[in-house]
Amino acid sequence: MSQQLGGQPILILKEGSSRTRGRDAQGMNITAAKAVASAVRTTLGPKGMDKMLVDTIGDVVITNDGVTILKEMDIEHPAAKMMVEIAKTQDDEVGDGTTTAVVIAGELLKRAEDLLEQDVHPTVIAQGYRQAAEKAQEILQSISVTIKATDSAMLRKIAETAMTGKGAEASKEKLCELVVKAVMMVADEDGTVDKDNIKVEKKVGGSIENSEIVEGVLVDKERVHPAMPKKVKDAKILLLNAAVEFKKTEVDAEINITSPDQLQAFLDEEERMIKNIVDKIVDSGANVLFCQKGIDDIAQHYLAKAGIFAVRRVKKSDMEKLARATGGSLISSIDAISSEELGYAGLVEEKKVSGEEMVFVVECKNPKAVSLIVRGGTEHVVDEIERAVEDALRVVGVVFEDKKLVAGGGSPEIELSLRLREYAATVGGRAQLAIEAFAIALEIIPRTLAENAGLDPIDMLVELRAAHEKGKKTVGLNVFEGKAEDMLKAGVVEPLRVKTQAISSAAEAAVMILRIDDVIAASKSAAPEGMPPGGGMGGMGGMPGGMGGMEF
Ligand SMILES: Nc1ncnc2c1ncn2[C@@H]1O[C@H](COP(=O)(O)OP(=O)(O)OP(=O)(O)O)[C@@H](O)[C@H]1O
Ligand SMILES: [Mg+2]
Repeated sequence: MSQQLGGQPILILKEGSSRTRGRDAQGMNITAAKAVASAVRTTLGPKGMDKMLVDTIGDVVITNDGVTILKEMDIEHPAAKMMVEIAKTQDDEVGDGTTTAVVIAGELLKRAEDLLEQDVHPTVIAQGYRQAAEKAQEILQSISVTIKATDSAMLRKIAETAMTGKGAEASKEKLCELVVKAVMMVADEDGTVDKDNIKVEKKVGGSIENSEIVEGVLVDKERVHPAMPKKVKDAKILLLNAAVEFKKTEVDAEINITSPDQLQAFLDEEERMIKNIVDKIVDSGANVLFCQKGIDDIAQHYLAKAGIFAVRRVKKSDMEKLARATGGSLISSIDAISSEELGYAGLVEEKKVSGEEMVFVVECKNPKAVSLIVRGGTEHVVDEIERAVEDALRVVGVVFEDKKLVAGGGSPEIELSLRLREYAATVGGRAQLAIEAFAIALEIIPRTLAENAGLDPIDMLVELRAAHEKGKKTVGLNVFEGKAEDMLKAGVVEPLRVKTQAISSAAEAAVMILRIDDVIAASKSAAPEGMPPGGGMGGMGGMPGGMGGMEF
């Protein structure tokens, strides 16, 4: 680096700015990106380890989820940040495969580094990688399996694969069943799944096995008055976005009361007005009231007397879910209350969940909104289960929509690797080298699955390759028994979209990083010369080949 720093005759940058060019810039960026990949690599697969992340105020997160780890890590290096972006994109698009995407990107860069050393120009590598990524999409489509949206057994396998290796694993059967059921319940006729219709409600206490699905809406509130019924069958539900209270005057008015009679008259009037509102509610035929605003004491009393189940200060999002589920409309003025606006549910009930009252609105007219109560012993457990359930909901939703899946356990990567190598031979020229590098890079997934399971990666790869060469496209790694096995038969399946997205975003990021040959950084004392985060990367020395000490 010194040769650059020392040799600049004219200063065009502000003092303190740093500039790295050419191979040095590439070397640093690649090192930083590889460091990110290696940080999450050990979490890949069913036998992957977890990470414990402690933030500056001491909060602890224990997770196996790639994107969660990267979000929690305070990453500063610009190229490393691009790797985090891959994980985020993957998470937004499919909800799973975040570790895979990052690990592939890291390996693509590592292989590119070797080519750079052989004096292959970065643009040639970039071009080859793009070509390979495109071809990979084609191959993936051709090896994907189409299923019926009604194939709940397969959908359950999808959920199971997404959950394997996460904290939720112990009870994954139960959770997967819930996940598939929830997705099927909210799916539209045209096959789209709006995951927002599924509310994951976590509760600490009880065991994972106590998790349940509520075919309806769950509101984390209790009824306002103990004299109200705890349970209302054939519920006619009023959804009110107005306060059930005596209206306060907008202007600062003063009422002078000079005699006790007057006071009584005033209070009577207030009570009469509130009673009027309650009468209106009763007249509409409603026996359940969800109010987004407040319900005052007198109103509570009258509502209880009328046998109405009332909840106040309900969240807006819950009100919307209730409207969708019960077919009722949200009413924002007392005058608009009428029987036509009411929603319906077979049962509204207040029940205890882990010692806290919650309102269950079930047997709804239109059960498009469902809730999933996730339970677990401690907060960290519940949090990790929630993440796993969210992942599973997403992948099941994705497969429900696309109806396409691929076998897991590294099988698509092996198949891709093989076919891309064949393809490379037909391309020829220098791009061939890059396509071959891309092909080899994809083997990082089965290799890592093997390593993380304590198996010999070389033996495993040989076994897998041999099977694929014989045309067994779905053979992957059974990490529990340490042998090659048909993953489709074993029920280890993933959405096609997880793989297509992971490979395309990994390739894009790798290409983007490779094409950078100049890093100009404004002065910032905290990050000298673009050192990657996490320390321990010493000895990088700006030499592209000198990344010794890093383990990949
Ligand atoms: N039972 C299994 N046997 C073999 N491989 C499996 C099994 N279950 C999952 N896998 C593989 O594990 C990999 C996924 O691992 P993991 O869930 O840890 O990472 P990810 O999905 O890439 O990222 P994240 O879940 O953190 O977003 C996939 O390649 C998948 O095929
Ligand atoms: Mg996963």
